[in-house]
Amino acid sequence: MRLRDLSDLGDVAGKRVFVRVDYNVPLEGGEVADDARIRASMPTLLEVLKGGASLVVASHLGRPKGQVKEEARMAPVAGRLAELVGGAVEYEPTDGVVDESVERRCAALRPGEITLLENLRFDPGEEKNDPVFASRLAGLADVYVDDAFGCVHRAHASVAALPALFLEQGRPAAAGRLLEREVAALSRLLERPDRPYVAVLGGAKVSDKLSTIGALVDRVDALLIGGAMAFTFIAAEGGEIGDSLVEPDRFEEVLAARRRAEEAGVLLQLPEDVVAAAERSLEAKRHTVPVGGVPRGEMGLDIGPRTVEEFARVIAEAKTILWNGPMGVFELEPFAAGTRGVAAAIAGSKAFSVVGGGDSLSAIKKLGLEEGFSHLSTGGGASLEFIEGRQLPGVTVLEV
Ligand code: 3PG
Ligand code: MG
Repeated sequence: MRLRDLSDLGDVAGKRVFVRVDYNVPLEGGEVADDARIRASMPTLLEVLKGGASLVVASHLGRPKGQVKEEARMAPVAGRLAELVGGAVEYEPTDGVVDESVERRCAALRPGEITLLENLRFDPGEEKNDPVFASRLAGLADVYVDDAFGCVHRAHASVAALPALFLEQGRPAAAGRLLEREVAALSRLLERPDRPYVAVLGGAKVSDKLSTIGALVDRVDALLIGGAMAFTFIAAEGGEIGDSLVEPDRFEEVLAARRRAEEAGVLLQLPEDVVAAAERSLEAKRHTVPVGGVPRGEMGLDIGPRTVEEFARVIAEAKTILWNGPMGVFELEPFAAGTRGVAAAIAGSKAFSVVGGGDSLSAIKKLGLEEGFSHLSTGGGASLEFIEGRQLPGVTVLEV
């Protein structure tokens, strides 16, 4: 797969470049709580600016569903972006993403100047992939760049209809450096991964991961499953899971996944032991129990030490590793050991390792283990859909 990239754009001096970024970042008290996604877009922004262009930067934030929501305005993001570029970023809270004032502001941009649009999802046309909204966005710039890897799995106007329109009109459109780097790293998991290829999946809900599990069974050598989602597997086979999270309407599907793994000769490993407590709190009394023996009135909140050891043994043999989702309630220290153990095992291995998903990333950050991973993806859903081998609208449109 080859994507059009910044070097395919030709000379951008004096041009206005529309850059779709994924600045869907966590906010706390009206400030950006984690700026990793903003930082990740800097190579592209700086390269385009260096080429003598001006920038029209655009993102969504949260899920305002086509309506103006005060708490979803881009103001905090504009502030952080200005700090990171070390220069001014024009931003005006507007009710229309593209109205006359925005058109005037963009038309007046001079080389080196940056304007940030209002939250793209304030316009109902964004999520509908509406060609009319796309053509209004297209009027704001001469060149299109997509650096929003976290959104390429969405068929939304700014990542799908807009680049398609640019290309149809014979105008330049390309992937930015982040999108290019993400696709290159994740492609290594899709195309001839070094083996053994081990996937570690966690998180609360198995329903979010069933399609990933289904696709990975055909691709990996081992699938290690932790987090609360493991309990649906355990309960489906009659294990005692106490009050642990469970999705009984998914029993059929998880049993089918286990059968398929067995037929394919793929190791699908569930926890052997778990850390259980009566409540999710710092003070809760906890103890380690066999996975199929969680007492009534208690729930499993982390994988146990024997499971960590077993998972670490499989991870140590791996040449390629994918990790998505925590092994337990790692935000609470008493239930963090499983996630910490798995993170440390991956960080300590020489395998090509990729992590996606906000929770796993924040665990790695908290543990200071960033250096131990080959690729930290800025996309959660997007990275999973990519490694499942699906066609992603924002990627397909930029393929050469
Ligand atoms: C994300 O954070 O997952 C991306 O920005 C996409 O957002 P969405 O899941 O709301 O489409
Ligand atoms: Mg998402």
